[in-house]
Amino acid sequence: LPLHVLVLGGDGIGPEVTAQALRVLRRMQAKHDLPLTIEEQPFGNATWRATGSLMPAETHAAVDRADAVLFGAADSLGRAAMPAEERARGSLLSLRRRLGLFANLRPVRTERALDAVSPFKPQTLAGVDLVFVRELSGGVYYGEPRGIERDADGRRRGINTHIYDEDQIIRAARFAFALARGRRGLLTSVDKANVMEAGALWRQVVTALHHDEFRDVRMEHMLADTCALMLNREPRRFDVILTDNLFGDVLSDAAAGLAGSLGLLPSGSLSAPRPDGRRRALYEPVHGSAPDIAGKGVANPLAAILSVALLLRWSAGAEEAAQEVEAAVTAALDAGARCADIALPGEAALGTEAMGEAVLARL
Ligand code: NAI
Ligand code: MG
Repeated sequence: LPLHVLVLGGDGIGPEVTAQALRVLRRMQAKHDLPLTIEEQPFGNATWRATGSLMPAETHAAVDRADAVLFGAADSLGRAAMPAEERARGSLLSLRRRLGLFANLRPVRTERALDAVSPFKPQTLAGVDLVFVRELSGGVYYGEPRGIERDADGRRRGINTHIYDEDQIIRAARFAFALARGRRGLLTSVDKANVMEAGALWRQVVTALHHDEFRDVRMEHMLADTCALMLNREPRRFDVILTDNLFGDVLSDAAAGLAGSLGLLPSGSLSAPRPDGRRRALYEPVHGSAPDIAGKGVANPLAAILSVALLLRWSAGAEEAAQEVEAAVTAALDAGARCADIALPGEAALGTEAMGEAVLARL
């Protein structure tokens, strides 16, 4: 069966950058004769204004038949005036849940052409090629009990619960080990086993899985604070970094600084395999809807385009096409193509569409 791809541009710069990503996807589909079907559906705040629904019934139905979603951005801050029920029904979180996504993958690579844009030294940046596997279904984001309540003395206190069961840890860890096996063969598992019970369990479960199934992969445990430091000091030492939901959120943003701009960082989130062996997936830039530059045609589409490379690699099984897209992005940057977010002062900047052209010209 062909892979069914659903395109949801969403809010703000989402549709602008997704349009360029879609051109790249169609080009690779034609060039490699890939068995893909592609459908676009409305989603987001403009859809709400037009139809009274963030995610109309047809879009819901399209999500249910999609193998992979190519997503732009959701402007959740711009939804304050909408009814809470509608906000919940049309949220990115509900979309992720509907797709059953449990692993969020965020690759971070550095481009030599952008050394001058990064605050890091060139020798720190050279050869950085790492990927986070962030557990997406558990931890403090969902743990109960939670809330703000009063204690016996009438003082308010905020409560969250950090909770992981071993099945959640095994599922994420098994995915991360398998990924490391196909890369440079090093898995760094991050926790705070020294102070957190869920972290101690995390470490036990990862150690046992390593012993039982992945002895050919090198595995190390690292405390989250040490990981933050090493991402700054020696980022090229990392290959695959496995984290829980919260540490992954924080550490992957910290690592994003290495790449030079949010406009360069793709991500993909995957479900457990379905009976047919396929995983459902959602691919999106790490950045949001960028209301400050939306509608101006200046947003950098490279994060969205690199998300297409991940879709080709992880959902379409088209590794060669994925590498071509990544190489075209590198070649465009090497040739001096810059959007405003990665241009040095005084350097000419391309708009969104022109950057899309610069990549397409190298495919
Ligand atoms: P943001 O990522 O939208 O923007 C942060 C800064 O980076 C802004 O100055 C923006 O102009 C710049 N930027 C982002 N992407 C860029 C690109 N492709 N090219 C050039 N510059 C770019 O984050 P912010 O401002 O915190 O949030 C804005 C809205 O986006 C909020 O409603 C937030 O909830 C939402 N958001 C959605 C996400 C998603 O859909 N997955 C992720 C993060 C935020
Ligand atoms: Mg974050």
